[in-house]
Amino acid sequence: MCGIFGYVGHQEDAADIVFEGLKRLEYRGYDSWGIAVKKPGTGSKNTFAIRKRTGKIGNAKVSDLPKSSFGLGHTRWATHGGVTKINAHPHTDCTGSIVLIHNGIIENYEKLKKNLIAHGHRFVSETDSEVAVHLIEELNKTCSFTEAVRKAFLKLEGLNAIIVMHPRAHTFVGVRNGSPLVVGLGKGGNYLASDAAALLPHTKKVYFLEDNDLVVADAENVQIIEVKTGKRKKIKPRTLTWSIKQAEKGKYPHFMIKEIHEQPSILSEIASSGLSNAKKLSKHIDQAFDTYMVGCGTASYACIAGSYLFSKIANRHINWAVGSEFGYQLDFLTPKSLVMALSQSGETIDTLEAVKKAKGKGAKIFALVNTLGSSLYREADYSMLIGAGPEKAVASTKAFTGKLAHLVLLAYALAGKPKSGQSTLLKAAKASKTVLTPESRARIKKLAERMKNKEHIYVIGRGLSYPASLETALKIKEISYIHAEGFAAGELKHGVIALVEKGTPCIAFLPNDETYGANLAGAMEMKARGGSIIGISHKPHEVFDFYIPVADAQEATIIPNVIVGQVLAYYLAIARDLDPDMPRNLAKSVTVK
Ligand code: G6P
Repeated sequence: MCGIFGYVGHQEDAADIVFEGLKRLEYRGYDSWGIAVKKPGTGSKNTFAIRKRTGKIGNAKVSDLPKSSFGLGHTRWATHGGVTKINAHPHTDCTGSIVLIHNGIIENYEKLKKNLIAHGHRFVSETDSEVAVHLIEELNKTCSFTEAVRKAFLKLEGLNAIIVMHPRAHTFVGVRNGSPLVVGLGKGGNYLASDAAALLPHTKKVYFLEDNDLVVADAENVQIIEVKTGKRKKIKPRTLTWSIKQAEKGKYPHFMIKEIHEQPSILSEIASSGLSNAKKLSKHIDQAFDTYMVGCGTASYACIAGSYLFSKIANRHINWAVGSEFGYQLDFLTPKSLVMALSQSGETIDTLEAVKKAKGKGAKIFALVNTLGSSLYREADYSMLIGAGPEKAVASTKAFTGKLAHLVLLAYALAGKPKSGQSTLLKAAKASKTVLTPESRARIKKLAERMKNKEHIYVIGRGLSYPASLETALKIKEISYIHAEGFAAGELKHGVIALVEKGTPCIAFLPNDETYGANLAGAMEMKARGGSIIGISHKPHEVFDFYIPVADAQEATIIPNVIVGQVLAYYLAIARDLDPDMPRNLAKSVTVK
């Protein structure tokens, strides 16, 4: 969702630095953007040059913005007010001397706005965000600027992050509660961003703001103040382990295909380095009276897969729920419960809120996340990094299979057979590599060409292939905009079969496990109604109209199977002339409800 990037330092190219920062945040999903830089030679009073645009950054240039060493930018994902230049951030106060950007939703903005209008403030946008800048302007009449930001933030309801450019100094004042904000501590300059990966070209030394941290940053110093008390707080910077190269496309045309290709090596890496953590963390699962898994979107499908893996491998019943629903069914949690939260970003608000509610019931939290220092990572009692490296394509791929890999290891560790987990995972890495050979990709591309004009695609599976079906359908929907539905094959006769007609593409996962026969029957039933059967299996079958081979990797076969779905979705998007990295309306990190 909305991206933030700010720079204050000694370099004179703040506009370019901020612009490049925003480009690194594009993947989060946005519909308009804006940049403000302080104009040179304006003495003790800051005046700003502001550029705002709707749509994507594309080939836009900011070279005509004045030279400056103090700049702030924002990519907006509209919530309150349409996608217009006026609604794009930054927003300014009545005098134009306070500049603000905001992430989140100010839930009480209507009341605040009414009050501010009564005090003579003039609003120009339809956003909730603009309220914050006028509120600061109002409070700054009677107290210092930093104090005005602090007091204003305390009046905002909801989960928010704001950054304000000081009207009289080269200083940022930023605060967060819920929405992510990270400070980059550079040499000769400091940075603020919504996402640590955007800081990589400048610095690896960072501080992740905690909820209710207020930051005051100029070119030399960074201070953190507790927003509620106004007291200074000592900070402990962290060092980012990701490299710039990992966050770039390299030789690939899109992040998504690059990230798809990274999977075999990530899986092998997890197989070797994930074992000791799996052994340690499986003890918490073992000791818990009851365990739940929670996540959103793709992460929720990893939870479903986890429930099958723990049942199959470790004889353990684990419930799961999507983040947005978990809050309605956690009345039974106790301090003996364990909640496992799965998330790539570690910032998904529905997952985070579910975790906070579970904590309120005394449950212990275990987070499996891809982003170091993220809110979930810090909120949890035990955290484990997925280790998939930065994932930039909106549709999650390598973070999903990375989660599955850790779940395989955890389940085997819980069963007391950690080494078997490792060898199963290595088989999955090998099978995934085969799915990604040029011949295999060409085959999947050919299938995409055949399917590109279809209106509906159905995907069936049983057992672990059920979450594989859901995930494949989700990938197809997200980036090719074709209606795709994944479901448990046993449910076919309970409704979906009514939709199958001549030529309807029906994808069937048929791995070498106990589901083979029953799922094959489902494929046959679809075929009997005219369906065109795409079989993803370790062996061909005459019922298939199109066959994609995937080698058997025991319980981890779901991994290469899903990779076939990812590659298919990718080529469907390409065949339909769509940008797979930035699907319409979607955001990488969903930080609002
Ligand atoms: C968004 C993304 C999905 C992702 C989901 C959960 O909807 O578009 O790709 O699966 O959020 O994200 P998380 O970061 O919690 O895994």
